[in-house]
Amino acid sequence: MKYEIKISKVDKSRVDALDFNNIPLGTTFTDHMFICDFENGQWVNPRIEPLATIPTHPAAMALHYGQAIFEGMKATLDSEGNPRLFRPTKNAERLNFSADRMGMPDFPETLFVEGLKQLVALEKSWIPPQDGSALYLRPFMYADEPFIGMRAATHYKFIIIASPAGPFFSKRIKLWAERKYIRAVAGGTGEAKAAGNYAAAIRPTELAKASGYDQVLWLDAVEHKYIQEVGTMNIFFKIAGKIITPKRDGAILDGITRNSVIELLKHKGFEVIERSISIDEVKEASNNGTLEEAFGTGTAVGIAYIQEIGFDGDVIHVSNESPVGLDINNTLNEIKTGKIEDPFNWMVKVENERA
Ligand SMILES: Cc1ncc(COP(=O)(O)O)c(C=O)c1O
Repeated sequence: MKYEIKISKVDKSRVDALDFNNIPLGTTFTDHMFICDFENGQWVNPRIEPLATIPTHPAAMALHYGQAIFEGMKATLDSEGNPRLFRPTKNAERLNFSADRMGMPDFPETLFVEGLKQLVALEKSWIPPQDGSALYLRPFMYADEPFIGMRAATHYKFIIIASPAGPFFSKRIKLWAERKYIRAVAGGTGEAKAAGNYAAAIRPTELAKASGYDQVLWLDAVEHKYIQEVGTMNIFFKIAGKIITPKRDGAILDGITRNSVIELLKHKGFEVIERSISIDEVKEASNNGTLEEAFGTGTAVGIAYIQEIGFDGDVIHVSNESPVGLDINNTLNEIKTGKIEDPFNWMVKVENERA
Protein backbone atom coordinates (compact mmCIF):
# COMPACT_ATOMS: atom_id res chain seq x y z
CA MET A 1 0.00 0.00 0.00
CA LYS A 2 1.29 3.45 -0.90
CA TYR A 3 0.91 6.02 1.83
CA GLU A 4 0.46 9.72 1.28
CA ILE A 5 2.87 11.47 3.63
CA LYS A 6 2.18 15.19 3.96
CA ILE A 7 5.35 17.25 4.17
CA SER A 8 5.68 20.71 5.67
CA LYS A 9 9.19 22.07 5.64
CA VAL A 10 11.06 24.54 7.83
CA ASP A 11 11.63 27.97 6.30
CA LYS A 12 15.35 27.76 6.91
CA SER A 13 17.45 24.72 7.81
CA ARG A 14 19.66 24.82 10.93
CA VAL A 15 22.25 22.54 9.29
CA ASP A 16 24.66 25.37 8.47
CA ALA A 17 25.24 25.93 12.19
CA LEU A 18 26.50 22.36 12.67
CA ASP A 19 30.26 21.71 12.84
CA PHE A 20 30.43 18.29 11.17
CA ASN A 21 33.89 17.72 12.63
CA ASN A 22 32.66 18.16 16.16
CA ILE A 23 29.15 16.78 16.55
CA PRO A 24 27.95 16.71 20.15
CA LEU A 25 26.64 13.22 20.97
CA GLY A 26 22.86 12.87 21.15
CA THR A 27 21.98 16.53 21.49
CA THR A 28 21.73 17.68 17.87
CA PHE A 29 18.51 16.99 16.00
CA THR A 30 17.67 17.59 12.37
CA ASP A 31 15.05 20.06 11.12
CA HIS A 32 12.11 17.67 10.72
CA MET A 33 10.36 14.66 12.24
CA PHE A 34 8.01 12.01 10.89
CA ILE A 35 4.85 11.66 12.93
CA CYS A 36 1.69 9.54 12.77
CA ASP A 37 -1.28 9.14 15.15
CA PHE A 38 -3.19 6.03 16.22
CA GLU A 39 -6.88 6.83 16.69
CA ASN A 40 -10.07 4.77 16.43
CA GLY A 41 -8.08 1.61 15.81
CA GLN A 42 -5.96 2.88 12.94
CA TRP A 43 -2.84 4.83 12.06
CA VAL A 44 -3.79 8.15 10.50
CA ASN A 45 -2.27 11.37 9.22
CA PRO A 46 1.34 10.35 8.47
CA ARG A 47 3.30 13.55 8.03
CA ILE A 48 6.72 15.13 8.12
CA GLU A 49 6.83 18.45 9.90
CA PRO A 50 9.34 20.76 11.57
CA LEU A 51 10.80 19.19 14.70
CA ALA A 52 9.03 20.71 17.70
CA THR A 53 8.02 19.88 21.24
CA ILE A 54 4.74 17.99 21.56
CA PRO A 55 2.19 19.01 24.20
CA THR A 56 1.67 16.09 26.61
CA HIS A 57 -1.34 15.57 28.87
CA PRO A 58 -0.16 14.83 32.44
CA ALA A 59 -2.27 11.64 32.37
CA ALA A 60 -0.65 10.39 29.12
CA MET A 61 -0.49 6.65 29.73
CA ALA A 62 3.14 6.20 28.63
CA LEU A 63 4.20 8.32 31.60
CA HIS A 64 2.35 6.12 34.09
CA TYR A 65 2.21 2.59 32.69
CA GLY A 66 5.25 2.68 30.44
CA GLN A 67 3.84 1.76 27.05
CA ALA A 68 6.86 3.12 25.17
CA ILE A 69 9.09 1.30 22.67
CA PHE A 70 11.80 2.41 20.29
CA GLU A 71 14.24 1.47 17.56
CA GLY A 72 17.72 2.66 16.62
CA MET A 73 19.25 2.62 13.17
CA LYS A 74 21.55 4.63 10.91
CA ALA A 75 21.57 6.22 7.47
CA THR A 76 24.95 6.51 5.73
CA LEU A 77 26.15 8.04 2.48
CA ASP A 78 27.43 5.72 -0.24
CA SER A 79 30.45 6.53 -2.39
CA GLU A 80 28.27 8.58 -4.78
CA GLY A 81 26.88 10.60 -1.88
CA ASN A 82 23.46 8.91 -1.88
CA PRO A 83 21.82 8.01 1.44
CA ARG A 84 21.35 4.35 2.32
CA LEU A 85 19.59 2.57 5.16
CA PHE A 86 20.88 -0.64 6.77
CA ARG A 87 18.20 -3.37 6.88
CA PRO A 88 15.30 -1.05 7.80
CA THR A 89 12.70 -3.80 7.48
CA LYS A 90 14.39 -5.63 10.36
CA ASN A 91 13.80 -2.60 12.58
CA ALA A 92 10.18 -2.41 11.43
CA GLU A 93 9.70 -6.08 12.32
CA ARG A 94 11.38 -5.67 15.70
CA LEU A 95 9.26 -2.60 16.51
CA ASN A 96 6.16 -4.67 15.90
CA PHE A 97 7.53 -7.54 17.99
CA SER A 98 8.04 -5.01 20.82
CA ALA A 99 4.59 -3.50 20.21
CA ASP A 100 2.96 -6.92 20.49
CA ARG A 101 4.71 -7.70 23.80
CA MET A 102 3.72 -4.33 25.24
CA GLY A 103 0.08 -4.51 24.13
CA MET A 104 0.54 -1.76 21.55
CA PRO A 105 -0.72 -1.65 17.96
CA ASP A 106 1.34 -2.85 14.99
CA PHE A 107 2.79 -0.10 12.84
CA PRO A 108 2.56 -0.85 9.07
CA GLU A 109 6.04 -1.97 8.01
CA THR A 110 5.80 -0.36 4.56
CA LEU A 111 4.87 2.98 6.17
CA PHE A 112 7.76 2.60 8.65
CA VAL A 113 10.25 2.21 5.78
CA GLU A 114 8.56 4.86 3.60
CA GLY A 115 8.54 7.37 6.49
CA LEU A 116 12.25 6.70 7.09
CA LYS A 117 13.11 7.09 3.43
CA GLN A 118 11.24 10.35 3.02
CA LEU A 119 12.64 11.81 6.24
CA VAL A 120 16.20 10.80 5.32
CA ALA A 121 15.78 12.19 1.77
CA LEU A 122 14.64 15.50 3.24
CA GLU A 123 17.46 15.56 5.83
CA LYS A 124 20.20 14.39 3.44
CA SER A 125 22.38 17.44 4.14
CA TRP A 126 22.51 16.40 7.82
CA ILE A 127 24.19 13.04 7.08
CA PRO A 128 27.84 13.47 8.09
CA PRO A 129 30.11 12.47 5.19
CA GLN A 130 33.11 11.42 7.30
CA ASP A 131 34.05 7.75 7.49
CA GLY A 132 32.33 6.09 10.43
CA SER A 133 29.78 8.92 10.80
CA ALA A 134 26.06 8.50 10.16
CA LEU A 135 22.64 9.98 10.69
CA TYR A 136 21.19 8.15 13.70
CA LEU A 137 17.46 7.50 13.35
CA ARG A 138 15.20 6.95 16.30
CA PRO A 139 11.73 5.59 15.50
CA PHE A 140 9.55 5.25 18.62
CA MET A 141 5.97 4.69 19.72
CA TYR A 142 4.25 5.70 22.96
CA ALA A 143 0.79 5.83 24.49
CA ASP A 144 -0.46 9.41 24.57
CA GLU A 145 -4.03 8.75 25.71
CA PRO A 146 -4.89 10.63 28.91
CA PHE A 147 -6.28 7.92 31.22
CA ILE A 148 -5.76 6.69 34.77
CA GLY A 149 -6.21 2.93 34.82
CA MET A 150 -4.33 -0.19 33.83
CA ARG A 151 -5.21 -1.24 30.30
CA ALA A 152 -3.84 -0.86 26.80
CA ALA A 153 -4.13 2.72 25.60
CA THR A 154 -6.29 3.53 22.60
CA HIS A 155 -4.23 6.50 21.37
CA TYR A 156 -0.56 6.35 20.39
CA LYS A 157 2.01 8.36 18.51
CA PHE A 158 4.68 6.92 16.22
CA ILE A 159 7.52 9.36 15.58
CA ILE A 160 10.92 9.27 13.87
CA ILE A 161 13.56 11.81 14.85
CA ALA A 162 17.09 12.01 13.46
CA SER A 163 20.39 13.01 15.03
CA PRO A 164 23.76 13.27 13.26
CA ALA A 165 26.48 11.17 14.92
CA GLY A 166 30.23 11.61 14.48
CA PRO A 167 32.63 8.70 14.04
CA PHE A 168 32.82 6.35 16.98
CA PHE A 169 36.43 5.84 17.99
CA SER A 170 36.35 2.46 19.64
CA LYS A 171 38.62 2.36 22.65
CA ARG A 172 38.73 -1.10 24.18
CA ILE A 173 35.97 -1.29 26.76
CA LYS A 174 35.74 -2.74 30.25
CA LEU A 175 32.58 -4.59 31.28
CA TRP A 176 31.20 -5.29 34.72
CA ALA A 177 29.49 -8.71 34.96
CA GLU A 178 26.52 -7.94 37.18
CA ARG A 179 25.47 -10.58 39.74
CA LYS A 180 23.08 -8.57 41.92
CA TYR A 181 20.83 -6.77 39.45
CA ILE A 182 19.28 -8.48 36.46
CA ARG A 183 18.04 -7.11 33.15
CA ALA A 184 15.56 -9.67 31.92
CA VAL A 185 14.19 -13.18 32.10
CA ALA A 186 12.33 -15.24 29.49
CA GLY A 187 8.67 -14.28 29.64
CA GLY A 188 9.53 -10.71 30.66
CA THR A 189 10.19 -7.79 28.31
CA GLY A 190 13.91 -8.28 27.59
CA GLU A 191 13.39 -9.33 24.00
CA ALA A 192 11.35 -6.19 23.34
CA LYS A 193 12.99 -2.82 22.85
CA ALA A 194 10.88 -1.35 25.63
CA ALA A 195 11.88 1.93 27.27
CA GLY A 196 11.40 0.39 30.73
CA ASN A 197 14.22 -2.12 30.13
CA TYR A 198 16.60 0.80 29.84
CA ALA A 199 15.17 2.57 32.90
CA ALA A 200 15.90 -0.54 34.98
CA ALA A 201 19.47 -0.65 33.65
CA ILE A 202 20.36 2.94 34.54
CA ARG A 203 21.19 2.48 38.24
CA PRO A 204 23.33 -0.68 37.77
CA THR A 205 25.13 1.02 34.87
CA GLU A 206 25.88 4.09 36.99
CA LEU A 207 27.29 1.87 39.74
CA ALA A 208 29.47 0.01 37.21
CA LYS A 209 30.71 3.32 35.79
CA ALA A 210 31.52 4.61 39.27
CA SER A 211 33.79 1.55 39.66
CA GLY A 212 35.63 2.33 36.42
CA TYR A 213 33.71 0.12 33.99
CA ASP A 214 32.12 1.26 30.72
CA GLN A 215 29.01 -0.92 30.63
CA VAL A 216 27.23 -3.73 32.42
CA LEU A 217 27.48 -7.32 31.18
CA TRP A 218 24.12 -8.85 32.05
CA LEU A 219 23.94 -12.39 33.41
CA ASP A 220 20.88 -14.64 33.46
CA ALA A 221 18.25 -13.89 36.09
CA VAL A 222 18.05 -17.40 37.57
CA GLU A 223 21.58 -18.66 38.16
CA HIS A 224 23.39 -15.33 37.68
CA LYS A 225 26.13 -16.98 35.65
CA TYR A 226 25.08 -17.33 31.99
CA ILE A 227 26.04 -14.35 29.85
CA GLN A 228 23.19 -12.53 28.13
CA GLU A 229 24.26 -9.22 26.57
CA VAL A 230 25.84 -5.84 27.25
CA GLY A 231 24.01 -2.54 28.01
CA THR A 232 23.24 -1.70 24.38
CA MET A 233 25.07 -4.50 22.58
CA ASN A 234 25.09 -8.22 22.03
CA ILE A 235 28.32 -10.07 22.76
CA PHE A 236 30.61 -12.49 20.92
CA PHE A 237 33.60 -14.53 22.16
CA LYS A 238 36.28 -16.28 20.12
CA ILE A 239 37.47 -19.30 22.06
CA ALA A 240 39.89 -21.81 20.56
CA GLY A 241 39.09 -20.68 17.03
CA LYS A 242 35.29 -20.88 17.35
CA ILE A 243 32.94 -17.92 17.66
CA ILE A 244 30.38 -18.24 20.43
CA THR A 245 27.47 -15.88 21.12
CA PRO A 246 24.72 -16.35 23.71
CA LYS A 247 21.71 -17.97 22.09
CA ARG A 248 18.42 -16.09 21.99
CA ASP A 249 16.63 -17.32 25.07
CA GLY A 250 13.66 -14.96 25.16
CA ALA A 251 15.53 -12.51 27.39
CA ILE A 252 18.09 -10.89 25.07
CA LEU A 253 17.47 -8.38 22.33
CA ASP A 254 17.48 -9.81 18.80
CA GLY A 255 20.21 -7.42 17.68
CA ILE A 256 20.26 -6.58 13.99
CA THR A 257 24.03 -6.16 14.15
CA ARG A 258 24.26 -9.54 15.96
CA ASN A 259 22.25 -11.20 13.22
CA SER A 260 24.35 -9.50 10.49
CA VAL A 261 27.66 -10.36 12.20
CA ILE A 262 26.63 -14.03 12.45
CA GLU A 263 25.83 -14.06 8.72
CA LEU A 264 29.07 -12.25 7.84
CA LEU A 265 31.22 -14.54 10.00
CA LYS A 266 29.67 -17.64 8.42
CA HIS A 267 30.16 -16.07 4.98
CA LYS A 268 33.84 -15.63 5.86
CA GLY A 269 34.09 -19.30 6.82
CA PHE A 270 33.98 -19.09 10.63
CA GLU A 271 32.08 -21.54 12.76
CA VAL A 272 29.54 -19.57 14.80
CA ILE A 273 27.84 -21.27 17.73
CA GLU A 274 24.76 -19.82 19.43
CA ARG A 275 24.58 -21.41 22.85
CA SER A 276 24.61 -20.72 26.59
CA ILE A 277 27.99 -19.57 27.81
CA SER A 278 28.77 -18.96 31.47
CA ILE A 279 31.05 -16.33 32.93
CA ASP A 280 33.06 -19.22 34.48
CA GLU A 281 33.67 -20.73 31.04
CA VAL A 282 35.00 -17.39 29.77
CA LYS A 283 37.20 -17.05 32.88
CA GLU A 284 38.55 -20.57 32.34
CA ALA A 285 39.26 -19.81 28.66
CA SER A 286 41.12 -16.65 29.68
CA ASN A 287 43.15 -18.62 32.24
CA ASN A 288 44.13 -21.38 29.82
CA GLY A 289 44.89 -18.98 26.96
CA THR A 290 42.08 -20.01 24.60
CA LEU A 291 40.06 -16.76 24.94
CA GLU A 292 41.20 -15.10 21.73
CA GLU A 293 38.70 -12.22 21.36
CA ALA A 294 35.58 -10.69 22.84
CA PHE A 295 33.53 -7.97 21.20
CA GLY A 296 30.14 -6.31 21.47
CA THR A 297 27.86 -5.58 18.51
CA GLY A 298 25.24 -2.84 18.14
CA THR A 299 23.98 -0.08 15.88
CA ALA A 300 25.51 2.74 17.92
CA VAL A 301 29.09 1.44 17.98
CA GLY A 302 29.26 -1.23 15.29
CA ILE A 303 31.84 -3.47 16.94
CA ALA A 304 33.24 -2.63 20.40
CA TYR A 305 36.39 -4.51 21.41
CA ILE A 306 36.38 -5.76 24.98
CA GLN A 307 39.51 -5.37 27.09
CA GLU A 308 38.41 -6.95 30.34
CA ILE A 309 35.43 -8.18 32.31
CA GLY A 310 35.30 -7.59 36.05
CA PHE A 311 33.20 -9.70 38.39
CA ASP A 312 33.14 -10.63 42.08
CA GLY A 313 36.52 -9.03 42.77
CA ASP A 314 38.04 -11.03 39.91
CA VAL A 315 38.95 -9.95 36.39
CA ILE A 316 38.91 -11.69 33.02
CA HIS A 317 41.61 -10.37 30.71
CA VAL A 318 41.01 -10.43 26.97
CA SER A 319 43.80 -10.33 24.39
CA ASN A 320 44.73 -6.85 23.12
CA GLU A 321 44.26 -7.90 19.51
CA SER A 322 40.87 -8.36 17.84
CA PRO A 323 41.65 -9.37 14.26
CA VAL A 324 38.27 -10.99 13.63
CA GLY A 325 36.29 -8.18 15.29
CA LEU A 326 38.30 -5.59 13.35
CA ASP A 327 37.80 -7.39 10.05
CA ILE A 328 34.04 -7.69 10.62
CA ASN A 329 33.81 -4.02 11.61
CA ASN A 330 35.65 -2.96 8.43
CA THR A 331 33.49 -5.18 6.23
CA LEU A 332 30.29 -3.88 7.82
CA ASN A 333 31.42 -0.27 7.33
CA GLU A 334 32.42 -0.94 3.73
CA ILE A 335 29.03 -2.49 2.98
CA LYS A 336 27.28 0.48 4.62
CA THR A 337 29.22 3.01 2.55
CA GLY A 338 29.02 1.00 -0.67
CA LYS A 339 32.82 0.58 -0.85
CA ILE A 340 32.39 -3.14 -1.40
CA GLU A 341 29.65 -5.24 -2.90
CA ASP A 342 26.69 -5.93 -0.59
CA PRO A 343 26.41 -9.72 -0.91
CA PHE A 344 23.33 -9.92 1.32
CA ASN A 345 21.33 -7.02 -0.17
CA TRP A 346 21.22 -5.35 3.22
CA MET A 347 21.41 -1.75 2.04
CA VAL A 348 18.26 0.09 0.99
CA LYS A 349 18.64 3.06 -1.30
CA VAL A 350 16.92 6.33 -0.43
CA GLU A 351 15.71 8.28 -3.45
CA ASN A 352 16.63 11.92 -3.46
CA GLU A 353 13.98 14.30 -2.23
CA ARG A 354 11.10 14.91 -4.57
CA ALA A 355 11.23 18.31 -6.19
C1 LIG B 1 19.89 -4.14 25.01
C2 LIG B 1 20.45 -4.10 23.65
N1 LIG B 1 21.05 -5.21 23.16
C3 LIG B 1 21.56 -5.24 21.91
C4 LIG B 1 21.50 -4.13 21.09
C5 LIG B 1 22.05 -4.20 19.69
O1 LIG B 1 20.99 -4.23 18.76
P1 LIG B 1 21.19 -3.67 17.28
O2 LIG B 1 22.33 -4.43 16.71
O3 LIG B 1 19.91 -3.96 16.60
O4 LIG B 1 21.50 -2.23 17.41
C6 LIG B 1 20.91 -2.95 21.55
C7 LIG B 1 20.80 -1.77 20.70
O5 LIG B 1 19.77 -1.52 20.15
C8 LIG B 1 20.36 -2.94 22.86
O6 LIG B 1 19.78 -1.84 23.33
